[in-house]
Amino acid sequence: MQETSEFDIRLIPSHIALIMDGNGRWAEERRRPRLAGHKAGVDSVRAVVETAREIGVRYLTLYAFSTENWQRPRAEVKGLMALLRTYLESELRTMLKNDIRLFCIGQRERLPADVLSVLEQVMQETEHCREMTLNLALSYGGRNEMIRAVRKMAHKCVAGEVDPDALSEGMLGECLDTFGQPDPDLLIRTGGEHRLSNFLLWQVSYAELYFTETKWPDFRKYQLLEAVATYGRRQRRFGKTGAQLLGR
Ligand code: IPE
Ligand code: IPE
Ligand code: MG
Repeated sequence: MQETSEFDIRLIPSHIALIMDGNGRWAEERRRPRLAGHKAGVDSVRAVVETAREIGVRYLTLYAFSTENWQRPRAEVKGLMALLRTYLESELRTMLKNDIRLFCIGQRERLPADVLSVLEQVMQETEHCREMTLNLALSYGGRNEMIRAVRKMAHKCVAGEVDPDALSEGMLGECLDTFGQPDPDLLIRTGGEHRLSNFLLWQVSYAELYFTETKWPDFRKYQLLEAVATYGRRQRRFGKTGAQLLGR
């Protein structure tokens, strides 16, 4: 963990959200099946989780499978689910060792039963871990998350627990899958596309956006440190003027 000394801790985002894109094209470039790209991508997940933990990131949210990804060819979905399961099985020990809590956002009930059971087991076994929370976005869609949150709030109103006129941004935030967690400070998308693809639509309202051409299987420790360094050079104004932030 010595490399962390060169980083000013105030400039480390406490929450990084990551759209891990480009696995398929990475494989196609090498004339290999798309699944080979997803497989190589798992090594990037390991490297990025380890690095994030090393530099003191408190929350890391990885977009692993979107609600829209169910529309992919069946064999690809099956392959991705199998990779997810082996990843979870193989990482439990490392997560415990590094004090990393696993959490899941999205419609986890749509996952195959065997994957769901391993996922829930790892979540349960790492529940006490405090250094970093690793959120896996699985069968996740921002609009789906928001409509589920709105339904929860509507039920509370109908039950007379909340006055509709008292509904607040804070209350909606508490009904989202990410309840209790800070919003992402930095959103990274690999693979060259410049879009959100239904990821954390509510939570990224003030995130710094970082897009890179690097495809996910090539995104490792160095690339993450580069993104974090870029973030550290940005001025986040939250609607204020630069002078206000400098106290002038
Ligand atoms: C991201 O890589 C992984 C998932 C969406 C599961 P892609 O599979 O989208 O790779 P490209 O975008 O086709 O290259
Ligand atoms: C976004 O990537 C979803 C994940 C990384 C899991 P996609 O490859 O599915 O996004 P689009 O289809 O290019 O927008
Ligand atoms: Mg893609």
